[in-house]
Amino acid sequence: MTDATDDALGIRKLGHRNFVGGDGDLWQRIGMLQFEFLRARGLEPRHVLLDFACGSLRAGVHFIPYLDAGNYLGFDKSVDLVIMGVVHELGHDRFIEQRPQFVLNGRFDLSEFDRNPDFAIAQSIFTHLTPADIRRSLAAIAAIAAPHTQLFATFFRRNFEHENPTESHSRLCFYYSAEEMRSFGEASGWKFEDIGAWDHPRGQMMGRYFRA
Ligand SMILES: C[S@@+](CC[C@H](N)C(=O)[O-])C[C@H]1O[C@@H](n2cnc3c(N)ncnc32)[C@H](O)[C@@H]1O
Repeated sequence: MTDATDDALGIRKLGHRNFVGGDGDLWQRIGMLQFEFLRARGLEPRHVLLDFACGSLRAGVHFIPYLDAGNYLGFDKSVDLVIMGVVHELGHDRFIEQRPQFVLNGRFDLSEFDRNPDFAIAQSIFTHLTPADIRRSLAAIAAIAAPHTQLFATFFRRNFEHENPTESHSRLCFYYSAEEMRSFGEASGWKFEDIGAWDHPRGQMMGRYFRA
């Protein structure tokens, strides 16, 4: 895992859009893709949404105004990215009106949220984590999930020889098979559906974790 200082310097160097892989039109495309995907899966303003690894609010800028006030839960390890997202993308007025909640730490600790999410999205975070850290993430989300909670998580499909890095890293990529993705959620009670392609411009696949 890169430490907070490395990330902060990277964000300053690359900018808060590029740092999350949102260069050029990818910022708008990948943000809107997440919003439209969850809308098609039944997300409504009354629902509570966990944006797991929300980054600089690429998707949050669509979800926060859409959801009823207080229903957006953003989690990330980078304070810098979230500050940049609020100041430069969402705006302070929207922040005050819509009261998104943020929990920021690198320990996968979601216990400070006081709501249970109906939906959760983890876009381009399991693509940067080791199996142990994906299991920790899924256990943390399970700990605040309701029986009906659905988590949509993206992954790079491993269908060729590929050696993953040995440590989680904000910018290096990890590849997994659908069977590996399923197995990561087993210990914390998640079932897994391999949704596959969802029109992601960088070829990330979509999977659905569910409990019931
Ligand atoms: C590629 S970005 C994706 C951000 C966002 N989901 C989006 O679609 O723009 C990966 C994000 O994961 C966050 N991240 C990486 N490791 C993390 C960890 N251990 N805990 C929480 N967030 C982490 C990074 O700070 C970054 O915001």
